[in-house]
Amino acid sequence: LLGAVIVLLLIYLISSSSFSTQKHGNEPPGPRPLPLFGNLLQLDLKKPYNTLLELSKKYGSVFTVYLGTKKVVVLSGYKTVKEALVDYDDVFGDRNQPEIMRELSQGHGVAWSNGDSWKEMRRFALTNLRDFGMGKRACEDKIIEECQYLIEVFKKFQGEAFDTTQPVNCAVSNIICSIVYGSRFEYNDPEFKSLVDRTARIIRLSGSPSIQIFDMFPSLFKWTADRNEIHKIFSANKKQNQTIFSRLKETLNPQMCRGFVDAFLVLTLLLNVYVQESGITNSHFHNENLVMTVMHLFAAGTETTSTTLRWGLLLMAKYPKIQDEVQEELRRVIGDRQVQVADRKNLPFTDAVIHETQRLSSIVPTALPHKTTQDITFQGHFIEKGTTIFPFLTSVLHDPNEWERPHSFYPAHFLDKEKKFVKRDAFIPFSAGRRICLGESLARMELFLFFATLLQHFCFTPAPGVSEDELDLTPSVGLTLSPSPHKLCAVSCM
Ligand code: HEM
Repeated sequence: LLGAVIVLLLIYLISSSSFSTQKHGNEPPGPRPLPLFGNLLQLDLKKPYNTLLELSKKYGSVFTVYLGTKKVVVLSGYKTVKEALVDYDDVFGDRNQPEIMRELSQGHGVAWSNGDSWKEMRRFALTNLRDFGMGKRACEDKIIEECQYLIEVFKKFQGEAFDTTQPVNCAVSNIICSIVYGSRFEYNDPEFKSLVDRTARIIRLSGSPSIQIFDMFPSLFKWTADRNEIHKIFSANKKQNQTIFSRLKETLNPQMCRGFVDAFLVLTLLLNVYVQESGITNSHFHNENLVMTVMHLFAAGTETTSTTLRWGLLLMAKYPKIQDEVQEELRRVIGDRQVQVADRKNLPFTDAVIHETQRLSSIVPTALPHKTTQDITFQGHFIEKGTTIFPFLTSVLHDPNEWERPHSFYPAHFLDKEKKFVKRDAFIPFSAGRRICLGESLARMELFLFFATLLQHFCFTPAPGVSEDELDLTPSVGLTLSPSPHKLCAVSCM
C-alpha cells in the first residue's frame, strides 16, 4: 500500500510540476505554488478568505491560486466581479463541479449542472417558485404562519439561553417544503426531522477539510470517511424524496397543483404523451432531474437563509443599541399587529440592519465555483477555457472603495442623510449574472418577515455570564460561513 501511495504521489508531483510554468505569458499572476500542495500551505485554514483578500492586495483583482494541483482564478473587487459575471456572463457563467458534487448530482438538477438541462431546470424552477412561492401573497402567508410556530418554540425556553440553530433551520426548511411538496410539517415529525438533519449534515460534511482535499486529489482520497458518509446520507435523502413523490403521485390532480413536485410530474406526464406520439426522446423532465432539483432547492434554500437569520440575531445581541433602534421602529410603525412585506418600505432602519447583516457576514464568500466556457483575455490576462473561477463576493461586500466601514457592523451603509433606505450596487450576497441565486426573492422575503417578527416579539441577549463584547463574530468555516456555536436568550417583549 505504501508503495502505491508513493507512486501516486510521484505521479502527482510530476503532473503538478506543470503549474510552475505559465503556458501563456500573460496569465493572471499569483503566489508561487509548491509541487503537490500548490498554495495550500499559504492559506490560513481558519480564515482562508482573509488570505485571498491579502493576495488580492498583492496581485490585483484577477489572480491565480493553486488548491493542490487545481488551478483557480480568483476575481476580486466590485468592478471586476461585476464585469466578469454580468458583462461576460456567457464566458464566466458555467458551473464548475467539485468532485463530490459531480459524484452526487451526476450533472442533474439545477445548482451543479450546465447546458440545456440546467437552462430548462432553472427556467422551470424560477417559474414554479414564483407560482408556489416567491412574489405571491400565498408565500407571504406561509412565512407569516411559520413565524408563529417559531415564536412558540422560542417562547418555550422562557428567556433561558438556547442554541437557535435547530428551530430556525426547521422554520426555514418548512418554507421550502410548502413550496416544493405543497405542505409543511410539524417540527417533531420524524420524516421532516430526518430530511432537515440529513440536509444539514450533507452541507456540513461538504465543507469539511477532508472533502476539500478529496476535491483536490479525488483518486488519492476516495476512501475518506466523510465522503462515504455523504454518499450514504445522500442516498437516504434521495430515497425519502422518492417516497414523498410516490405519495404525491397517488393524489395528483393536474387541475390543482399543490407545489413544485406536482407541477413537474404533470409536465412529465404531458411530455411523455408527446414523446410517444412524436418519437422525440430528449426531454430533461425525468425523475433524476426532479429529485436532484428538489434536493438542490432544499440544500441551497435552507442553510443559507437560516445562517443569515442566526447572524442577524447574534448581531442584535452583540449590539443592543442597534437592536433597541430596530425595536423602536417596529413599535412605532407596526405596533402589535403582524409585520407584512408591504411594511418594508416604512421600516428603513430594520431593512438596513438586514442588508448590513448580509453584507458583513458574507456567508457565501466565493459564490459557488464557476468555470470559463471559452478562452478569454480578461482585463489583460489570458484565462483558458475550463478554468475554475471563484467570484470573490466577500471582496465586493467588504471592498474599501465601496463601503465606508467595510469591516464593522454599520447599518448606515444603507441609509441616506434623511435616514431613508438606499440600495447599494456593491451589495451582491446573492452573486450576479446568469448564475445569480435562484431563490433571491424568496430569501429576501423570508429574512425580512422572520427577522422583523422575531424582533417584534423578543429581545435577544447573550447567555448569562457572557458579555456583549465576548460574543464572538469569528465565523465557522464550512460550505457557508456560519456563526460559531453560541447560545442566546430570547426575552419576551410583547
Ligand atoms: C446559488 C446565495 C437563498 C437557491 C446561490 C449562489 C449564492 C447564493 C452566492 C451562487 C451564485 C453563483 O454561483 O454565482 C444565497 C443566499 C441566500 C440564498 C445568501 C439566503 C440568504 C436561497 C434560497 C434558494 C436558493 C432560499 C431556494 C429557494 C439557489 C440555487 C442556486 C443558488 C438553486 C444555484 C443557481 C444556479 O446554479 O443556477 N445562492 N442563496 N438560494 N441558490 Fe441561493
